[in-house]
Amino acid sequence: MKRIELEAYGVPEEVAHCVEVPDVGAPGPGEVVFDVLAFPINPADIGFCRGTYRIKPPLPATPGAECVGRVAAVGDGVTHVKPGDLVINLARENWAARRRVKAEDAVPIPSGLDPKQAAMLRINPPTALLLLSDIVELKPGDWVIQNVANSAVGRLVITLAKARGLRTVNVTRREDVFAELTALGADVCLTDGPGLTDRVREATGGAAIPLGLDAVAGDATARIASCVKDEGTVCTYGGMSGKAPEVSVADLVFRGVTFTGFMLGRFMARRSAEEIRAIYAELAEGVAKGTIHAPVDSVYPIDNIREALIQAQTGGRRGKVLVSPGGEVG
Ligand SMILES: NC(=O)c1ccc[n+]([C@@H]2O[C@H](COP(=O)([O-])OP(=O)(O)OC[C@H]3O[C@@H](n4cnc5c(N)ncnc54)[C@H](OP(=O)(O)O)[C@@H]3O)[C@@H](O)[C@H]2O)c1
Repeated sequence: MKRIELEAYGVPEEVAHCVEVPDVGAPGPGEVVFDVLAFPINPADIGFCRGTYRIKPPLPATPGAECVGRVAAVGDGVTHVKPGDLVINLARENWAARRRVKAEDAVPIPSGLDPKQAAMLRINPPTALLLLSDIVELKPGDWVIQNVANSAVGRLVITLAKARGLRTVNVTRREDVFAELTALGADVCLTDGPGLTDRVREATGGAAIPLGLDAVAGDATARIASCVKDEGTVCTYGGMSGKAPEVSVADLVFRGVTFTGFMLGRFMARRSAEEIRAIYAELAEGVAKGTIHAPVDSVYPIDNIREALIQAQTGGRRGKVLVSPGGEVG
């Protein structure tokens, strides 16, 4: 069985290798074994490989915060899934051909779902959902400003915001994505950089923006903060610049902007298992209808993990990089 292992923490394409390991074996009581159909390479996985993510297990370590799989066998006492079912996995270490997990971590999803979209269901869709529900109270007509608007999370924020009657200012580092974002429902698209505050004011007619979402950090945080209303909120949930968020005294002290942070696991932990299953059931329905969607740049075989990792770190991609260990997903 093939699995990705890190021999060290460092440059992802240099430290990650596809290795042959013994099969996971038959499921024990309360366990599920599934074949991994596909997994995405997310920014957090890149951070994991570099050793900069919040968890850094002993080596050799296997990355992979999410995947989609097809159940191969279930152990005694497992009733919520059966062989053949599609599942997503709430546990980590998913960059492998096969997984044996605790039954409660295997969440069943409808069998007809596109496996590529299902592979990206666990993290980004609920992140976008909870960023719009758990940070500040928003009502139809309210504006939200976000950077990395063309990322998978950013696109989902646009569609989910639109469905709730919210309006979005979408900030990116390139203009060639504006048409796609507008087609998704973006109200305003602007490039990041100097003069953002004035450009936002002009484009929104001086709207009072209660929420800013930031996944770049560094001076981009300060630019988003300068666009929200007095006593508005900026929520940083990623750090694509690799820098610490910058905050101006004027925004923090004089204008009373609140700065906060979001991490999916922390916000999911506030919910019961039943509520979490309900969130995924709703999101899976969205995937089935096509309203929850993330573009895919490319799909690699697991042996080509080096090329996949290089592509996943290349700016200007057309979507997410996926890996299909068994080649079922192309
Ligand atoms: N806190 C949480 O629980 C949580 C959960 C999910 C995701 N996230 C975070 O959300 C962010 C987006 O994730 P994703 O999976 O949606 O990303 P993605 O689809 O892989 O897209 C990455 C985005 O980052 C932009 N980018 C890359 N390097 C950048 C830089 N140096 N400065 C500014 N922008 C840069 C890319 O712009 P180009 O297209 O121009 O290259 C693209 O828009 C990441 O920071 C991720 O860690 C956080």
